[in-house]
Amino acid sequence: MTVKIYVPLDSGSVALGADEVATAIAATAAKRGEDVKIVRNGSFGMYWLEPMVEVETSRGRLAYGPVAVEDVDSLFDAGFLNGSDHKRYLGHTQDIPFLKAQTRLTFQRCGIIDPVSLDDYRANDGLKGLENALKMTSEDIVKAVTGSGLRGRGGAGFPTGIKWNTVRQAPGDQKYIVCNADEGDSGTFADRMIMEGEPFVLIEGMIIAGLATGATKGYVYTRSEYPDAIRIMNEAIEVARANKLLGPKVLGSDYAFDMEVRMGAGAYVCGEETSLLNSMEGKRGVVRAKPPLPALEGFMARPTVVNNVISLCSVPVILEKGAEYYRDFGMGRSRGTIPIQIAGNVKHGGLYETAFGLTLGEIVDQIGGGTASGRPVKAVQVGGPLGAYFPRELFDTPFDYEAFAKADGLIGHAGVVVFDDSVDMMKQARFAMEFCAIESCGKCTPCRIGSTRGTEVVDKIARGEDPEMQKELLADLCETMKFGSLCALGGFTPYPVMSALTHFPDDFKPHALDIAAE
Ligand SMILES: Cc1cc2nc3c(=O)[nH]c(=O)nc-3n(C[C@H](O)[C@H](O)[C@H](O)COP(=O)(O)O)c2cc1C
Ligand code: SF4
Repeated sequence: MTVKIYVPLDSGSVALGADEVATAIAATAAKRGEDVKIVRNGSFGMYWLEPMVEVETSRGRLAYGPVAVEDVDSLFDAGFLNGSDHKRYLGHTQDIPFLKAQTRLTFQRCGIIDPVSLDDYRANDGLKGLENALKMTSEDIVKAVTGSGLRGRGGAGFPTGIKWNTVRQAPGDQKYIVCNADEGDSGTFADRMIMEGEPFVLIEGMIIAGLATGATKGYVYTRSEYPDAIRIMNEAIEVARANKLLGPKVLGSDYAFDMEVRMGAGAYVCGEETSLLNSMEGKRGVVRAKPPLPALEGFMARPTVVNNVISLCSVPVILEKGAEYYRDFGMGRSRGTIPIQIAGNVKHGGLYETAFGLTLGEIVDQIGGGTASGRPVKAVQVGGPLGAYFPRELFDTPFDYEAFAKADGLIGHAGVVVFDDSVDMMKQARFAMEFCAIESCGKCTPCRIGSTRGTEVVDKIARGEDPEMQKELLADLCETMKFGSLCALGGFTPYPVMSALTHFPDDFKPHALDIAAE
């Protein structure tokens, strides 16, 4: 009997040796006359266990990891094709505590299915949301999304249903759905993971967004650094077209929708929606002044929905199970689930989808398992390079848009980057200013000039040139950037800078910053 073996194909696992492991398993099986079929699946997001190999047995899918090429012979010797014990044995995949404790609504099939098999997707309840949506009016679809409480997962947390309604009501013979897959935030990989592990859920979400708004064309804008995601998305789009999921008659209906992937060169500011639209139009990635909102005048000046990958991938389950079902998860005005990406100096780095409301301490200490170095956690940056640094005293902050805003922070794309006590927070503040200076699109002065001056001010503190006055100047500059910048790149850079200064004042004493070493 053929034994099915799953080896992940996503770029995170491949970077850790998944391709070599798959090749070694195939070669060893051939040498030993074992009948195996290797399926390349997406990752479950437990990166400290990747490459995680699973074997389908009569007892279910059993996992082994992290598997190195050197482990392959001994796995066969131990009888892993029957699920036997081995030093890499992890038990039933779904019983691994990190996975078992999650609430996977958006990532429900990621890791389970062959990413480009539409049959697998359907067999695991895929397309049910779209099938329901095809029977509904556009108004009712928007109502369901609004009622679910879904807010944009790209950073700003804007209610998705309200954005869709604006596009729905906007006059225009041509409307667009643009999926923001630029994913520039440090420590984030949810967009990549789902595009590589379950691309059909994004396609389904985009078709539903089209139905809701009257858009017939969609684009996935991503960066050149995501070649695997681009390849897999393109393959899935081809499969979707061949199966009439995309095209002039979506699933046999009178509704037309098609989509394509567009690749940007990879600038952080091209994740900002108007800069992204400029880039898609072949122009420089410079931020546009708002109004007009992209919902009214977006891509090619037509009404356009710009939504993050995870926002769009959360829609099918809402249409499948209903607004109430999704809304029941979460706290306050943060409804549903959020895929938290735990990265940096952390023991159990990976993707953890859960309802809003866990505290930062639970995420870092319990789920993440503390630092990889074994040293104490000193700071956690949440929300990418524009997010605040949290000290341990704020670890009781619940993962919720409003609670984070109250603590002068932001959730952003839900990236959590952990630092141990060896981190120099003044260096991190300098890094934030320097990052802004490098990535600034240059359109407005507080960001373009302020970030360069900010880097210089931090250098002056480090050199001991009237540090107390420089700190006041830094705070003043942050105020100007916060309120005077056109977009959040300049406007939010003060978050990492000021949180570092406020929570870690002892690090802002004159000392060498050790920058040349990097
Ligand atoms: C500098 C900057 C970078 C951004 N990068 C991203 C990004 O990589 N991905 C993303 O979805 N949103 C990003 N955003 C937010 C987008 O402008 C926009 O709010 C989002 O795509 C809307 O989708 P959502 O409502 O589904 O979150 C960025 C914003 C700024 C200011
Ligand atoms: S804040 Fe920076 S990135 Fe944003 S528009 Fe101004 S110069 Fe451009």
